[in-house]
Amino acid sequence: MDQPREILQELKNSALNPELLTRALEIPGRKSFMPIFQYSAELCEKYFKKEIFVRGIIEFSNICSKNCFYCGIRAENKKLRRYTMTKDEIMNIVDKMHSQGVLTVVLQSGESPVHDELIIDTVREIKKKYDMAVTLSAGEKEKTIYSEFKKAGADRYLLRIETTDEKLYKKLHPDSSLKQRIKCLYMLKELGFETGTGIMTGLPGQSMRSIADDIMFFSELKPAMAGIGPFIPHKDTPLKNEKPRDIFLTLKTLALIRIALKNINLPATTAMGTLDKNGRIDAMKYGANVFMPNFTPPPYREAYMLYDNKICVNEKCGISCIKMTAGRAGKKTVISKGGYF
Ligand code: 5AD
Ligand code: SF4
Repeated sequence: MDQPREILQELKNSALNPELLTRALEIPGRKSFMPIFQYSAELCEKYFKKEIFVRGIIEFSNICSKNCFYCGIRAENKKLRRYTMTKDEIMNIVDKMHSQGVLTVVLQSGESPVHDELIIDTVREIKKKYDMAVTLSAGEKEKTIYSEFKKAGADRYLLRIETTDEKLYKKLHPDSSLKQRIKCLYMLKELGFETGTGIMTGLPGQSMRSIADDIMFFSELKPAMAGIGPFIPHKDTPLKNEKPRDIFLTLKTLALIRIALKNINLPATTAMGTLDKNGRIDAMKYGANVFMPNFTPPPYREAYMLYDNKICVNEKCGISCIKMTAGRAGKKTVISKGGYF
């Protein structure tokens, strides 16, 4: 009964449910999963043709007041040189992005109120100068702060839920609550942000059922984007001795989200490319439609190590590298703000 083709028929014909998603996630080999990958690829092509939206990331500060157990820039990691870029430094990079046809800028940082003013000033300046979409990814804030970001002109906000498994969430986040994080996501939607979320796959103690429940959560929240990345241990964190799971689990999750949420934006993430050299290419073959190149300048890049061996830290990978990677998946990058429709 549990043949992959039968599971696919059920995914196409019956209402989404966690049991079905769990059975799909438990399919053991890539070859058996292929019909589901193919269906996800078909849906991606139906909504996005063979186009890949490009969003340039600037990791403008690695200051963070939290201590998520998996994360290399957690507050207690004292080995790190902390930095915050100035508005002028950020604007120089935005100029470069714009000249290269990248029309979405993602401003990412650790979570701390020290960033709020800089974010507001910078968003204002970007919106005044360019017709670009601005995405923020700076963690949990009060509603009034989110609202100020919106007024300054920010279009989108990324806040990964990481996991919706209450117990696991608690274990990994000594200073946050799942409830508050969910509240933030609904707040962002209410304020009119194109809201993105996401999870890590292969977290220690995470079950297939728990990932299935994450997908059910997405189908309720209906985010504009979901970033899915494999957990990769970092040597200076409490999870340093944990083993990562294989990329196949991340790719299965991505394909099932495409099937569940159809026109959602799904990036081929840096963590996918770090865990497996073909990770991002396979992701774009099987349902991803977004690529997020890192525009953080070299001296800062190495201080934004969320996990070990993060790619594109030493290599000089500009826009041509992104085009080539998309090309290897049979796709092409487009000059577009790439909104949610
Ligand atoms: N492995 C993979 N992804 C990680 N992130 C943080 N630490 C790790 C890790 N060790 C991801 C989280 C966070 C995003 C900024 O980076 O999902 O939301
Ligand atoms: Fe800070 Fe985000 Fe890392 Fe948590 S995952 S420690 S909030 S940067």
